[in-house]
Amino acid sequence: MQLFKNQEALSPEYLPEIMPHRESQIKYVADLLYKTAKGLGQNIFIFGAPGIGKTASIKFVFRQFQEYSNIDTIYINTWDYNTPLAILTKIVISLNYPIPRRGISKDEVLEKLIEILKKLKKGLVVCLDEVDQLLSKDQTVLYDLLRINQYVDSPVCLVMISNYKDVLLKLEPRIQSSLNVEEMEFKPYTLEEMKDILNQRCKEAFVEKPEEGVVLICANHAISRGGDVRIGLECLRKASMLAEDDGRIKVEHVRSILSQVKSVKMDLMKSNLQGIEKNIVDILSSHKTFTSTELWEEYCRRFDNISQNALTDHIQRLKEIGLFKIQESRKGSRGRKVFIRLLKRKKFK
Ligand SMILES: Nc1ncnc2c1ncn2[C@@H]1O[C@H](COP(=O)(O)OP(=O)(O)OP(=O)(O)O)[C@@H](O)[C@H]1O
Ligand SMILES: [Mg+2]
Repeated sequence: MQLFKNQEALSPEYLPEIMPHRESQIKYVADLLYKTAKGLGQNIFIFGAPGIGKTASIKFVFRQFQEYSNIDTIYINTWDYNTPLAILTKIVISLNYPIPRRGISKDEVLEKLIEILKKLKKGLVVCLDEVDQLLSKDQTVLYDLLRINQYVDSPVCLVMISNYKDVLLKLEPRIQSSLNVEEMEFKPYTLEEMKDILNQRCKEAFVEKPEEGVVLICANHAISRGGDVRIGLECLRKASMLAEDDGRIKVEHVRSILSQVKSVKMDLMKSNLQGIEKNIVDILSSHKTFTSTELWEEYCRRFDNISQNALTDHIQRLKEIGLFKIQESRKGSRGRKVFIRLLKRKKFK
């Protein structure tokens, strides 16, 4: 018997038809963005734990807005576009205007964008997802995007998403003062809510409802590992691989894969790292704790010579985005020592 109606519905990238328990947030954001089309320049900052529907809710709203012609929406994951030039270029291209990919300065792209927006006379909503890791590198793109509103009639509205509540407090005063922002907290799901969400995904994915108890076990596993819906989906996906012959997921399938499904957000973040930061994480993946000097020596031995200060800047950034724990110790005859190790699960509070 056929197991899947739509296998894609178990993928974390799949945007579901409905999002149980996020209806009110979706409506709130949609109403707020709708007002931007009428000239109220309101930015939104969304924060909350990993895997609780922040990105999906915004994409859900953006999908609805595609039908509303007075607002253009652009979703940007700032892991993929992580410099001001890359972000501004992505916006211009998304608005269907050609732009040379090389040899053009940021100011030229910004001027072009202003020219386009003057012509379009439409509201523009830009979502900057995972904004903490962008801002830990460079804040100027926010300044540039906010400045656009001095030149155009229809405002540009920013939707920023992060795991951390206090990201915007670290902004430069000149940016903070021009950032008219509405903050929204997404709260973690309860076990009952997680069950509803996974049940809905099962409806979209499978021909036949899983055996009684399957969704409860998956939901419980997700909640006990930090509440990330992706963990519940991964349990269902792995169990479904064992269930193809039976045509239906059973409790025994889930039980046999459960111990293999761990937190996913850290792995997702690590897979986005490049260059020096990727190398640092590779070294620390042995789960050993290093002092900063030991880490620097190991880095130079395994990769390239790099100054200790340059390495420290990268370590600091990785700490800010929640990959490391850095502990100071005052013990020892040489005074203060700093110990660095990788976190297993993302700390977001
Ligand atoms: N209420 C919901 N209904 C249906 N699916 C949901 C719901 N909440 C989350 N999901 C699903 O869970 C997965 C993770 O959600 P999402 O990517 O939005 O998490 P997030 O809050 O952005 O996490 P992160 O901070 O790690 O980026 C996605 O597949 C999403 O569709
Ligand atoms: Mg997200």
